[in-house]
Amino acid sequence: MDKPLHGIQEDKEIKVIFIFPDNSEKECIANVGENLLNVIRNNDIPIPCSCGGALACSTCHVVLDEETFELLEDNGKEASEDEEDLLEVASGLKDTSRLGCQIVLTPKMDGMKVSLPR
Ligand code: FES
Repeated sequence: MDKPLHGIQEDKEIKVIFIFPDNSEKECIANVGENLLNVIRNNDIPIPCSCGGALACSTCHVVLDEETFELLEDNGKEASEDEEDLLEVASGLKDTSRLGCQIVLTPKMDGMKVSLPR
């Protein structure tokens, strides 16, 4: 199927904007239903994600924009107890911190901003 002019297949792809500690940004196209861990890996974002999504590290720690964080909370996709425990030991923890490997992309997340902690 041809992609529309803006480069995103509506409801199938969304834009994810990574913000680096120096405030530079990288825009990526990701698939709806994809795990944010894959987006990080496929776009060479320098976040280790050491355990590969097994919820056994906190190296996939990211800081979401408030809107996306609340969207997840409102849809029952808040952090589990295990995720909360791992976040507690993550450095640069913020109110909207999440583990990247626990985020699955939905159409409503289009344009989400994902900051890399310092
Ligand atoms: S990659 Fe290890 S908890 Fe997310």
